[in-house]
Amino acid sequence: MRGALQCIALRPSGHTPSDSRPTSGEFIHRNAAVMSRVVCIDDLKQAALARLDKNALGYYNSGADGEQTLTDNNAAFQRYRLRPRCMVDISTIDLTQTVLGHEVSMPIGVAPTAMQAMAHPEGECATARAAEEMGAVFVLSSGSNKSIEEVADAAPRAIKWFQLYILKDRSTTVKMVQRAEQAGFSAIVLTVDAQVFGKRLADARNGFQRPSHLRLGNFASDVDKACHRGDNEYVEALFDLSVTWDDLSWLCSVTRLPVLVKGVMTPEDAVAAADRGASGVIVSNHGGRQLDGCIATVDALGPVVAAVGLRCPVFMDGGVRRGTDALKALALGACMVFVGRPLLWGLAHDGQRGARLALQLLQSELRLAMGLCGVTKVADVTEDVFEQSERSQL
Ligand code: FNR
Ligand code: LAC
Repeated sequence: MRGALQCIALRPSGHTPSDSRPTSGEFIHRNAAVMSRVVCIDDLKQAALARLDKNALGYYNSGADGEQTLTDNNAAFQRYRLRPRCMVDISTIDLTQTVLGHEVSMPIGVAPTAMQAMAHPEGECATARAAEEMGAVFVLSSGSNKSIEEVADAAPRAIKWFQLYILKDRSTTVKMVQRAEQAGFSAIVLTVDAQVFGKRLADARNGFQRPSHLRLGNFASDVDKACHRGDNEYVEALFDLSVTWDDLSWLCSVTRLPVLVKGVMTPEDAVAAADRGASGVIVSNHGGRQLDGCIATVDALGPVVAAVGLRCPVFMDGGVRRGTDALKALALGACMVFVGRPLLWGLAHDGQRGARLALQLLQSELRLAMGLCGVTKVADVTEDVFEQSERSQL
């Protein structure tokens, strides 16, 4: 019982990444004021629904077309069943992980999502500070409202990676990379699945527009002004549709930072990325916002790990809403998972505190799931946690 109670303890703010063990007494009831009725990510989503306008809600929540992939990203997790092991000493559960040379407090990081100031005026600065407090990796979208420098100033100690699209103008692309290097970001995340955006029906129906008081923080003001309307407008104006794997080699040659490739869904592309110098791949379908009908990311993970897992770390995102989802992805070989929308919901709910709550909920649920499976270290989360019938299909 003691172990189980410790598993649901929430970490207080201001801890260090290496401090992974919950202090006795920091149990969920002591966080009652923060928790109120928000006890899981779904609650956070409901809380955010009440705070976001139609424009922002449509942009944040929608997937492409019929949203089959958006739905399946989450539903697919439920097809994997777990087999608990008992009578294991779970009095200490260690969620720390070394990722690209950094010790992170948990194998759950913040995925890049654009235009966070629609959720809260502090936007990406608040989310980065939440990640800093939690000792989690924060990935800044190149389509952020706050600039690279503003985020670096707001969260100097956060482990920050910068997400990049290769633009038609290669010198602007290189300048962004250099700004990220100078501002202390420690990796570049090259997104390869969105040179053109999927058809998101809510945005089309709402005639989505970036609110006029918000800017694209990383672009010069003339570009920003020229692209002040729909999301697709800046994509069409700026993104290069002709990029190929050779451009990944080029990108690796112009930065000293490790480059991770985000948006890989097949072993073939994972091998191509590793061959061209990627320091890691992120299995992602952009949260179901691009190709509808695409397989769920958790189903794509195993084959990618089999193809490149010995050469570079494999990450994943898409549909992670519970600690058990994260556990299943780790068991399939992910070294870490990322979450997108839950942070936006947290931010809309209560700014930095809400973003932190999203991470705290997932962290405590993962700790609980590991404890109930009888696993005490991230490295020990293997396919042994799955039922035999599922393992034979992996
Ligand atoms: C995204 N995503 C994204 N990805 C990226 O590489 N650059 C970006 O600017 C954005 N922007 C963005 C905006 C919004 C509103 C969403 C929901 C998503 C994709 C994101 O990084 C991630 O792949 C998914 O969000 C993961 O799925 P979940 O956790 O939202 O289900
Ligand atoms: C999106 C971007 C910005 O999905 O990647 O909206």
